[in-house]
Amino acid sequence: MDELAALRLQIIWGADEILLPEPQNRRAAKAAAAEPVAVKLKPPPLASVLPAGPAEAVKIADGCASLEDLAAALRDFSGCALRDTATHLVFADGAADARVMVIGDAPGAEEDRTGKPFAGPAGQLLDKMLASIGLNRGNVRLANIVPWRPPGDRPPTEAEIAVCLPFLFRHIVLLKPDCLLLLGTVATKSMLHMQHGHAGIGQLRGKWYSIEIAGAVAPFACLVTYHPAYLLRMPAAKRDSWHDLLALRDRLGDENSAP
Ligand code: URA
Repeated sequence: MDELAALRLQIIWGADEILLPEPQNRRAAKAAAAEPVAVKLKPPPLASVLPAGPAEAVKIADGCASLEDLAAALRDFSGCALRDTATHLVFADGAADARVMVIGDAPGAEEDRTGKPFAGPAGQLLDKMLASIGLNRGNVRLANIVPWRPPGDRPPTEAEIAVCLPFLFRHIVLLKPDCLLLLGTVATKSMLHMQHGHAGIGQLRGKWYSIEIAGAVAPFACLVTYHPAYLLRMPAAKRDSWHDLLALRDRLGDENSAP
C-alpha cells in the first residue's frame, strides 16, 4: 500500500480527530487472519436479483462477447436519447482485469469533453481515495450507470437508467470483478433495484450487499459509499467514507497493493 498517499489523503481530509478508540495495526491484523476473505463478509442485508431491462438493450448487450464489443455496441446504440445531447460516449476507464469496479451515476462536463469517467474534481478526489487503499486506475475499473452526460447535469431518469443498465450488467459479467463499489444514491438504488423513498444513502453505506446478474456464474458483492461529489460538498461525511474504504481494503486483502 502507498503509505504516503494515505497520509496525504488524511491531510487533505483534515484528519484532526480520533476515528477509532484504539490505534489499529491493520497489517498485523491481516497477517493474523488466515481465513479466506469471503468469510469476513457480513451476511448481506439485502440480496437483489436484478431485472433484465428493456428487451432490445438486453439483446444487444448480451450479444457482446468482449468489453471491446460492448463499447462498440454502445457507440452504435440509438435507444437512449442522452446520446443525442452528449459529445462523447463515456464507456469506462481502468483495467480490464480489475478486482474492483467503481460505479458512479453519470458523466459530467469534463467526462463528456474527454470521454473518460471521473475526469473532473470528483474524479480527482476519487483517485486520492483509491490511492489511500493502494488502488488506482491501473487496477480498478470505473464506469457509470449511464454512459452519456444528461443535459445540464440533471439526474438520469428511470427510463434512461433502465435502458442503459443492461450494458452495465454485461460490463460487470464480462469483467468479473471480485466486488463493486457503488458511489452515491443513483448508483446504489439502480444497482440494488430499490425504489425512491427507500432507505437513504446514509443508512445504506458501509454495508456489503449481494447482487445476482443474469449470465454471471456467481453473485457480486457490492459495497455502498458516498459519492465523492457529495464529499466535496459535505466534508464531514469523509470520516464515514474512510471507514468504507477500510472495509473495501479488508475485503481485498493485501493483493491489491499498488505496484
Ligand atoms: N460523477 C460520476 O458519477 N461519474 C463521473 O464519471 C463523473 C462524476
